[in-house]
Amino acid sequence: MSDKQKSDVSKPNLGKIPEPPNPSEEPRTTFSAVGVPTGTPPSDKRTSESLRDEPGRSEVSPKSSLEDIVSLAKRRGFVYQGSDIYGGMAGIYDFGPYGAELLNNIKKAWWKANVYRKDNYVGLDSAMFKHPKVWDASGHTSGFSDPLAECKKCNTRIRVDKELEKIGIAADEKMSEAELNKLFDENRDKIKCAKCGEQDFSAVRAFNLLVKSNLGDFTGKDEEPVYLPGEASQGIYLNYKNVLNSARVKIPFGIAQINKAFRNEISPRNFLFRTREFEQADTELFVKPNENKEAYEQIKQDRWSWYLDIGIKEENLRWKQHENLVFYASDAWDIEYNFPSLGFDEIEGIHDRTDYDLTQHMKFSGTDLSYVDAQTKEKYIPWILETSMGLGRVFMAVLSDAYQIETMESGDQRTVLKFKPELAPVRYAVFPLLKNKPELVAKAREVYEKLSEKYVCEFDDNGNIGKRYRRQDEIGTPYCVTIDFDTLDDDSVTLRDRDTTDQKRVEIGRLVRDDLL
Ligand code: GAP
Repeated sequence: MSDKQKSDVSKPNLGKIPEPPNPSEEPRTTFSAVGVPTGTPPSDKRTSESLRDEPGRSEVSPKSSLEDIVSLAKRRGFVYQGSDIYGGMAGIYDFGPYGAELLNNIKKAWWKANVYRKDNYVGLDSAMFKHPKVWDASGHTSGFSDPLAECKKCNTRIRVDKELEKIGIAADEKMSEAELNKLFDENRDKIKCAKCGEQDFSAVRAFNLLVKSNLGDFTGKDEEPVYLPGEASQGIYLNYKNVLNSARVKIPFGIAQINKAFRNEISPRNFLFRTREFEQADTELFVKPNENKEAYEQIKQDRWSWYLDIGIKEENLRWKQHENLVFYASDAWDIEYNFPSLGFDEIEGIHDRTDYDLTQHMKFSGTDLSYVDAQTKEKYIPWILETSMGLGRVFMAVLSDAYQIETMESGDQRTVLKFKPELAPVRYAVFPLLKNKPELVAKAREVYEKLSEKYVCEFDDNGNIGKRYRRQDEIGTPYCVTIDFDTLDDDSVTLRDRDTTDQKRVEIGRLVRDDLL
């Protein structure tokens, strides 16, 4: 290792390329309409010493709005409205190229924490379609509904409990249809249709949220419909016995799964917050009856720490305990995130569900789901401690938490997504300093190929370096790597840090070996 390389290790900022006081002083490479560089003379042999792209950072903007996040998400290919060329579908979204990477990275971080790092948890990927009786056993066919009323003038449907909430009246989710109608009637005069302004609504009816399919039904009679999953967790309960009999597990053990859920939400809204198709990441820990309290507290702590580990700011998280527990639950807490424009709302539920789920499935399926302790021969129905996280909501939280607008010293603004490097859709962006220098382009391609073996990388030779940095800031790329004429001599590159905008010279070998600290 040369002395210069050694000093790079001990003093990470050595070799920083001076930032200009004003980017307009920089000789820029501009591009003609056909992408041919026009502003830089072919003889310009710029090296790292003259690679100046951006002034230092200064102020950070106040908290963003949901509109800012939605607009960036669409503009930069994170999330699109589902079927948008046909006018879109309410409550359905597609994840674009960067969104798919970010979503996958969140899932990987979750799977690592909940399967690989916990020796008594195993993973599962159950089928979405399930026997129709599953949803009878779970209570979804009879009780999984929201109170709906319809505007008689424009047919807009409202979720009555949410409308009552807006005027400060809490409608308990356990209320009967008659009780809800009474409460609604007492307050009708205070509720207006958001679309036409009328106050003429139908009576309230309980609207079941399960989505039906005609899988395997060739009669067209819809007699015993097969449902799309109303929640992902049922797949875990159904496979509890299979896992017990086939994997080397004993109580207490957990099963973790990421799977889709579908709900016929009456008024899907707030971007990914309330959608009709979404993904849930669930864990179910099977414990001995009454040995739930300590494990429940541990799970709560683990889940809180996970959000901090993926880079969510602690001040944007809070706990909320459920006041009205369902009859079988022993305790229930939500982790809430402080969403821009919306305020604190649920991202994950952590529920102590006693033996309800397995008892119900035992009753409806006729299969014995009890557990026999191999040592004590004790036989019991395990209790279940559940964590259920909505991936769309966490995606939104990660995006909102990372989003910043910063005013640079020059007065220019940059939008930057400060994701943790492990979550960032692209880890390295690789730039040849000049597009019209084949030797720089070839070297940049070589570096790109090497880094791509391990990471998602992007190659960009378009526009001046400052613009390329801005593009990568907007998608949250933590590291930009520029190949210049010095690289050809010393095999080192300029590594630019997204958050500080600091630059340092780094030997290519160290980049490839992940030896940057
Ligand atoms: N198995 C438990 C269960 O499904 P839930 O509170 O209905 O519980 C768990 O859902 C999580 O799923 C919620 O905390 C939320 O993050 C997410 N979620 C629920 N409904 C959703 C919807 N319509 N759109 C997006 N995410 C949703």
